[in-house]
Amino acid sequence: MCGIVGYVGPSQACPILIDGLKRLEYRGYDSAGIAVVNNGKVEIARAKGKIASLETTLRCSPIHGTLGIGHTRWATHGRPSEQNAHPHRAGKATVVHNGIIENYGAIKQTLTASGRVFGSETDTEVIAQLIDHLLEQGTAAEVAIRQVCRTLKGSFATAILIEDRPDTLYAVRKESPLVIGIGRGESFLASDIPAILNYTNRMVFMDDGEMAVLKPDGVRFTDFDGERLTKVIKTVDINPVMAEKGGFKHFMLKEIHEQPRAVTDTFRGRISEEKGEVYLEGLQITDEEITRIRRVLIIACGTSFHAGLVGRRIIEDLTRLPVEVDLASEFRYRDPIVGDETLLISISQSGETADTMAATKEASARGAKVVAISNVIESSLARMSSHGVIYTHAGPEIGVASTKAFTTQITALYLFALFLAWKRGSITLDRRRELIADLVRLPGRMGEALETSATLKRMAAVYEKYTNFLYLGRGINTPIAYEGALKLKEISYIHAEAYPGGEMKHGPIALISDQMPVVALLAQDAVYDKMKGNMEEVRTRGGVLLAFLAGHEDGSLSRLAREVVRVPMSNPYLTTILLALPLQLLAYHIADFKGADVDQPRNLAKSVTVE
Ligand code: M6R
Repeated sequence: MCGIVGYVGPSQACPILIDGLKRLEYRGYDSAGIAVVNNGKVEIARAKGKIASLETTLRCSPIHGTLGIGHTRWATHGRPSEQNAHPHRAGKATVVHNGIIENYGAIKQTLTASGRVFGSETDTEVIAQLIDHLLEQGTAAEVAIRQVCRTLKGSFATAILIEDRPDTLYAVRKESPLVIGIGRGESFLASDIPAILNYTNRMVFMDDGEMAVLKPDGVRFTDFDGERLTKVIKTVDINPVMAEKGGFKHFMLKEIHEQPRAVTDTFRGRISEEKGEVYLEGLQITDEEITRIRRVLIIACGTSFHAGLVGRRIIEDLTRLPVEVDLASEFRYRDPIVGDETLLISISQSGETADTMAATKEASARGAKVVAISNVIESSLARMSSHGVIYTHAGPEIGVASTKAFTTQITALYLFALFLAWKRGSITLDRRRELIADLVRLPGRMGEALETSATLKRMAAVYEKYTNFLYLGRGINTPIAYEGALKLKEISYIHAEAYPGGEMKHGPIALISDQMPVVALLAQDAVYDKMKGNMEEVRTRGGVLLAFLAGHEDGSLSRLAREVVRVPMSNPYLTTILLALPLQLLAYHIADFKGADVDQPRNLAKSVTVE
């Protein structure tokens, strides 16, 4: 939700800021802007819409200077417009901000009463106004910024320029991500690593309540009271090329095709086929604590929630522990039964989702042992998890629609279930070996499943004209139906519903007509015939059936369905991944066929850092 970037050094700031913003555009694309200090004066360029519009503005009126800040916006307070685009300036202070200032109304009222005039409808502008107000009263810049941080309620990652400090960039963080890049004779800041990875891989991850003062020759850190802090510089091991499209038309398509590699990277070095053992390096949970677990709770949002639903089945089957899965946004607002015998698994690709973080805090406060599953190294969620983190090694996911994050989350849950089962002695060595061998064979099978792309492209041309879809699954494949429907909705804007096949007769069957394609997911498992029964019910009522089958076709499906898309089979847990792939491709090709903005669908953002 909003991306910020900053630079101070010997080079021209503008190209560095624009490059960084393009890599952060997945966080929001309602408007964009930059501010650069030119000969001691702050110059600002802003535009409604994507970074491309800002580039057009800059081509007409270029800005020069070696110190600057930039912003790409996902609107919360104030509609998307140039006037509400960041940076926001008040007198000598210019700011960009990611987060929400909860007490901005009261602050704005006080400042307006004292004669200050606001130029935007945003919550952010109060930050610039407050700082400038203190500067006018003779407060030193650093002191003023810290004082403002103590006044603000809510969340903020903010970069600040002060007009008469032409070699200094200030940054503060509370509950919104912020990383500082340490270069040679230059310093950077950004909401996310890929924005500055082309310039440096030496990073400092800021924590809540911290301020950074960036100059070309180094960065100084303090808390909001001015106490000096010593921060660790980490070398980030991500190849910048991973955040490029690599010849694919969209990031989403690239990320779909990367999944065999991403899944391999997620289990690589963490398993022993021979010993039937799993090693999860980031976990900090003792064997005794594992034995004392009585129940497991999984919380997440969106696609990560769907991965959690798959995880429930795997963990319950392998450990025989009861598992509950909840939407993070719902969990917080009930009185959940959580204690120190509860293991909480918080799943978040970004590790910054506000609802997931708040729910994790809530469960932690009630005594749960928290393990995070996250794709972003050093994400806020990873750092707040009491009992460690299992990183999915998917690499940066830029497409707003989650694909490789989903399948690597299922992989991580599978590994964790095996780990718990091993430690609790709930499955035999032979069974563990068998399940690990299936995992090792999975990437090859995923490669075969991705070969359905050409078929799905052909189907997309036929089915893109429909305005409603129904997805059906059964058992462990029901969450895959949910995920397939979510993918179609978010990138093609086609309405899609998903149900367990057996539920159809309790209501959704009323929707069936020849105007409603029904995507039916099947695997040759215990509920195969039941699902075929559901398909018969659809066919009898004139529905258009598209079957997605894991395993061999016995001839009966092509009689029932207009299309049969076949993928290989694995054990039921991993077959979920194989069935997810063609559904991602179907959604992608339909959206692309409709000319939709696949990587940046309307109204969405990659990291949802607001409640
Ligand atoms: O970063 P997170 O995994 O916490 O994000 C959760 C959801 O916002 C995310 O999965 C969202 O539903 C995606 N747009 C799905 O494609």
